[in-house]
Amino acid sequence: MTGAPRESRWSPLLTRADLAARVDRLGREIEADHPDGVLLVGVLKGALIFLADLARAIRAVPVEVDFIAISRYAPDTGRVRILKDLEADIAGRDIVVVEDIVDTGLTLSYLLRQLEPRAPRRLDVCALLDRPGRRIVPLEVRYKGEEIPDVFVLGYGLHYADLYRNLPVVVEADPRALREDPAAFVPALYQPRPAA
Ligand code: IMP
Ligand code: MG
Repeated sequence: MTGAPRESRWSPLLTRADLAARVDRLGREIEADHPDGVLLVGVLKGALIFLADLARAIRAVPVEVDFIAISRYAPDTGRVRILKDLEADIAGRDIVVVEDIVDTGLTLSYLLRQLEPRAPRRLDVCALLDRPGRRIVPLEVRYKGEEIPDVFVLGYGLHYADLYRNLPVVVEADPRALREDPAAFVPALYQPRPAA
């Protein structure tokens, strides 16, 4: 089938076991740093699946969750705006912003600039994936699942045209094939053989 991942692309970049191990480690790291509890702020929609697992991996301290949605309104400049704001008042709280992937860092640096004036006690970043090779804005990712090379990835919350978020693994995908047909990899990745 045209545009489907080559056989070599079948093996996930991160398997279910890889993801579970990273989420568990991140949970321990966050617990250790925030004995009074933590408010996880998920960046919609990419952080959805990761946050659901991360929240359950934090057991030693109280956990609350909230969500923020931001959108680029000028992709070429990287400027973004808030589409859905937090419900929680974060003043004096320990906040961990949860992201699927930090790429250029523009999204997250904007978000942190919005949240810092609200005077949280601590404001840290937890990202499942980090692609430091493309960073434009220097950014400290305190809790990091995995550094990845400059490849486009899908699954475990990461999408193309809102597809593939529900893959239980993270796979590399050819962005050119996706631009031609956003659903190009759906048959290959979901049927007949679910990604391991
Ligand atoms: P940044 O502002 O360049 O750091 O962009 C980060 C956002 O772009 C992430 O939160 C993702 O939503 C999206 N993104 C970046 N790289 C990928 C990818 O490889 N696959 C899917 N989404 C991505
Ligand atoms: Mg994101």
